Order: sequence, then structure tokens, then C-alpha cells
Amino acid sequence: MQKEREYMQISEELHRARVTEKTAERYIPAEERPLFHLTPRTGWMNDPNGLSWYKGEYHLFYQYYPYDTVWGPMHWGHAATRDLIHWDYRPCALAPDSFPDREGGCFSGGAAELPDGRHLLMYTGCRREKHADGTECDVQTQNLATGDGTDYQKYEGNPVLSELNLPAGASRVDFRDPKIWRDADGSWKCVVANRAEDQTGQLLLFTSADAFHWSYKCTLAANHGRYGRMWECPDYFEMDGRSVILVSPQDMEADDQGFHAGNNSMCMIGSCREDGSFREEKIQTLDAGIDFYATQTVLTPDGRRVMLGWMQNWDTVPYRLENAKWFGQVTIPRELTLRGGHLYQNPVRELEQYRCGRVEREHVRIDAQHPLTDPGLSGRALDLTLTIRPEADCRKVALRFAQGEKHYCEVVYRPGENTLTIDRSRSGAVRDVTNSRTAAVPDRGGELKLRLILDRYSAEIFVNDGESVMTMTCYADKKDDRVSVLACGSAEVNLTGYTLKI
Ligand code: FRU
Repeated sequence: MQKEREYMQISEELHRARVTEKTAERYIPAEERPLFHLTPRTGWMNDPNGLSWYKGEYHLFYQYYPYDTVWGPMHWGHAATRDLIHWDYRPCALAPDSFPDREGGCFSGGAAELPDGRHLLMYTGCRREKHADGTECDVQTQNLATGDGTDYQKYEGNPVLSELNLPAGASRVDFRDPKIWRDADGSWKCVVANRAEDQTGQLLLFTSADAFHWSYKCTLAANHGRYGRMWECPDYFEMDGRSVILVSPQDMEADDQGFHAGNNSMCMIGSCREDGSFREEKIQTLDAGIDFYATQTVLTPDGRRVMLGWMQNWDTVPYRLENAKWFGQVTIPRELTLRGGHLYQNPVRELEQYRCGRVEREHVRIDAQHPLTDPGLSGRALDLTLTIRPEADCRKVALRFAQGEKHYCEVVYRPGENTLTIDRSRSGAVRDVTNSRTAAVPDRGGELKLRLILDRYSAEIFVNDGESVMTMTCYADKKDDRVSVLACGSAEVNLTGYTLKI
């Protein structure tokens, strides 16, 4: 091992992380992980990082602490996939082993391919600064590492963006999560989250000719205290001639636009001005469920914009699988499309090749006396589409899943109120965190289409072909695997379902 470390010139910290994960993963049987949602190789995961297409594969990194199932000094875990569904682990890519990141860690960031074929990672280094009066603060800078898809070397010129590059009033304490991309003309851009003078979030845009030497261009967008406080994990891309920003605001108050209290993820749709700044026209929540934060996107070789996020929320971290040696999951990758100025999300089409055992139930009339208790489908890895046509007396229709003798999870449609609720409170959950969330659904004369992507430890509900999504983790007993559809009043339902086998 010592030899290997010298040969590869990796630090003691990275070496230790790699040995730890290789050893620890043997004690995590595949059945104790989700079937197709990525989890950390061992220990803790938060934000996904550096989602990129590189040498014939998608690479995904993640905020990683391999030594425990709680947050600790951040490493970058690493996995790769060819089809966005089946993931293979790669050795830990970054460890907190250099001056800009030694104490706090290697925080979130992005990745891209350099013209010379190297894979470039851009991440935030978090350093602890001690002052003469005994106080301390974090200092965040942007840093680079280059590699071949397995091993990465930190750039000797780090940091490449520091307080020296910041505009007046911008915080050097909250300056993180760069998203890097290369424009069609070959020049480089990155957008970094920052805390402005008003103490709320702003997104700073930087440019570079070579991805190594950067300068400040403009403030791309600013919160001005409207959507939470600090903003994290920004992304920027163009789609159908529109400019799109994705960002995760912290500490929001609940409002009428579908945001809940706490940390949210938000989409801003607009256009770009001559000076490069963003003119916002529409704001929308990215996921109206319980567990969703910190997105990443990638442009696939066939031109699709695919997004995924951390399938977790900081406030719900206490709700977890007891005694598991991993914590944290990534959502299913979702194809993004714009229709009528609205962002739609749907599971990547690659999932469809893993469907088997099709079940189809058409025009089933259900009411309080006649639920659909055995649709011919059961399991904890399902792709199920339900179309609900409520009749005039219908007060609610509930799709139950992960159902056993006593416990179940459900999604409940109330046509009179035009609301949809996801609920895991009766799944056996014993932590007093948010276990149910209700969101508005548009009034389409009553009819509602739901697609449930169920994995062993999560449920993602895509409403009306991706018009909105509600995501939650769910640690119900794996033996609870039945599905049923119940109604108060009457409704007609169509159900198409598949078991997923990966
Ligand atoms: C978001 C976040 C990022 C930061 C990372 C640290 O969840 O707070 O802003 O880079 O987590 O792990």
C-alpha cells in the first residue's frame, strides 16, 4: 500500500480514505442499498458534485465523509455510469489534504473536460482562519484538480479564485459551489454562490480563457432577501433560447409559490442581458416534496439536459435507516424540458430498459367499498403510472405503496382542494421530522396523472408528465411491498406498472 501511495503520489489523507472505503464497502450488502439510487460507497454523502460526461461515461462526485454516517471534513466520493441508472464506484477523488481545504474540506463544485483531454474538477476549499483575538472564521476559495477519470492531482496554482477576485461587499466566508462550463467559443465560465452585503445570496460570474486563470465578470443574479438567505449550489444553462438558473436557497420561509420552510431548490427562468447578467422572468420550485436539495446538471451527448439532486434535506437528516453504514442518496437523474415557460422533469428514458413484468389495469372504478387492493403489482422497486379521474363525489384518492400489515406510505390526491400530499408518517417512521408535505396541483378538470418511481428507500412522484415532482426518502421495512389505490367517493383509475430489475 505504501508503494502504491508513493507511485501514485497521493496524499496520506486520500490514501486513508481509499483504503477505508474499499474495506468498509464489503460490509454493506447490495440488498441493503437502494437498487438504483446512488449512495456513498461508505459513510456520509451530501451534495452531488461534478456531474459530467467524460471519456464515454457520466462521472458523478459527491460530498463525502467516509469515516462516519455524519457530516465531517469533506472529501469527494466518485462514481461513474454509462446509462445514468447503474453506477460503479471509483476511488475517492479528493481529500482535504492541501492548504485551501485542509480543515473544512473540499466542498461542492463542478467538472468539465479540458481541450487536452484531462478531466477538470473545480471545487470550493474551506479553510479555517484563526485571528489574533482568538476568533476564527471559514475562508472559502475556488480550486482545481485535474485527472484521468480515476486519479486527480490538485493544481499547484490553487486557489484560482479567492477574496482577491471578489467585488466590493462580497463575502469571503460564504463563497462556494462553482459550476464550470465551456462556451461554444471555447472560453470558460463559472458561477459561484456568494453572500452579498445585504447578507443574502448572490451568484457571481467569472470568466477565463484557459480554465486556470479567472476574473470576475458580473453578478449574474441576486437574492435581495426574497428567497431565503444564502444561496448554494448554483447552475446555469441555456435551453430553447432561454436562460435557466438552478439554485438551492437556505433558510426560506414557506410561501404561496410552493416553497416550504427551510432549504429549497429553485429554478429561475429568464434571459441574459448584454453585460452577461440574468433578467429573471419566472421562479418555480424544483421539487415540492420533502427530500431534495443541491442539484447538478449535465448535457448528454444526445443533447438532453439531465439534472439530479441530493435526495435529502438538511432538516430531515435525523430520519434515517437505523444501523446502516451509509447515509445519503442521489435522486434519479431527470430530463429537463421547457414547455410554456415552465420547467418539466421526467426520469431519464434509460430507466425504461430496466422495466419488466408489465401490469395494466384500465378503467377501474374505485370507491370506499371497492379499493384496488391488489393491482397485480408489488415490490419496492417499481415504475408505476396512475391516471385518476375523480367523479363529482370524490374527496380523495390515495396511492399506497411500501404497504404491509400495519405500515404504508402514500400519495393522496384531493380533487376538491387541488392538492397532492406525500406522506411517510405511517411507514414506521419514529422521528419527529417532516413526514408529510402537501403541494398544489393545477386544476385540469379533475384528472391527474402520477408516475411513482419507487426504490427500496425512496419515492419520487412525477405529476402530470413532470409538471411538478415530489420526492421523499422512505425507510419502511423492506418486507412492506404491497401497492393499493383507495378512494373516498368514487373515481376511475388507469394503472400501468413495472417492476424494475437492475
Ligand atoms: C450544500 C452545502 C454546500 C457546501 C457543501 C458542504 O448542501 O452546504 O454549499 O459546498 O454543502 O458539504
